[in-house]
Amino acid sequence: SWTPDSFVDSTVAQLKSKIGSDKVILGLSGGVDSSVAAMLLHKAIGKNLHCIFVNNGLLRKNEFQDVLKQYEGMGLNVKGVDASARFLDALAGKSDPEEKRKTIGRVFIDVFDDESHQVENAKWLAQGTIYPDVIESVSATGGPSATIKSHHNVGGLPDFMKLQVVEPLRMLFKDEVRRVGASMDMNPALLGRHPFPGPGLAIRILGDITPEKVRILQEVDAVFINSLKDWNLYDQVWQAGAILLPVDSVGVMGDERTYEKCVALRAVESTDGMTADWVNLPYNFLQKVSNDIINKVKGVNRVVYDISSKPPATIEWE
Ligand code: XMP
Repeated sequence: SWTPDSFVDSTVAQLKSKIGSDKVILGLSGGVDSSVAAMLLHKAIGKNLHCIFVNNGLLRKNEFQDVLKQYEGMGLNVKGVDASARFLDALAGKSDPEEKRKTIGRVFIDVFDDESHQVENAKWLAQGTIYPDVIESVSATGGPSATIKSHHNVGGLPDFMKLQVVEPLRMLFKDEVRRVGASMDMNPALLGRHPFPGPGLAIRILGDITPEKVRILQEVDAVFINSLKDWNLYDQVWQAGAILLPVDSVGVMGDERTYEKCVALRAVESTDGMTADWVNLPYNFLQKVSNDIINKVKGVNRVVYDISSKPPATIEWE
């Protein structure tokens, strides 16, 4: 019968014989799937696995540095590439959700292609594709693999896409991926992370994106997510985040009228993201988070909580 330990043993053996002494490139997203895929390959081929972790400037607060450190701590041969400016420049002035997604996908491919050329004689491209990605035509699970697949058109392929593909998690569901990671002693906090969309905060800043809006949303999101952890609510929620609304509203601080941003908080229960219910978070928790956000994050004077389910709403607002 299937056990995580036997899966690790047989997969590592298969990867060794399949790949031999070839070099493999893998795009890490910070998410569970690409991280577990990397760990399996690391066990099989060690330093011949070349991981690339791209900062698109739209990650959570401190995420790039923190996750990069974790990857290094796991012994992975990983290169962190800070391409924030490249992404934010390309996004400047764009407010249509699909245009933002396409821009991010295109820049990601360019950055990844540039980086993959730094690895000489690479023969394989590894991806953290899991079974639900295989059955869905368009992946909604986030990360580099999803971004790459949606751009997998014929003709004019970037060079890294001409590599042979290896996908060690193709037959697994998410819970199995987490168990495989646990059996390799990976950090439980890394394995228990909420899903996060590939385009990141870009689709949670409604309208156009500026560095200041990214900063505000990163701060708000950090207060919310850290509070969920402090109150032991993080693991009871499937996905959570904050949305920066294109709405200014009147507030009051001391004797002064303010006219500042409004943010929405979203927390959902789900099993696969296809349907979702908003989470009935305790009122005293919401009260504390709202106060903390408004007191700590300059530029925000109003917080609302999204009580819409999917369908007919979606998890993201864009
Ligand atoms: P929706 O908003 O469609 O989201 O209910 C379902 C799940 O998919 C994630 N999502 C994305 N992931 N690229 C991704 O990699 C995207 O463009 C994208 N849009 C939504 C969303 O975070 C949720 O987990």
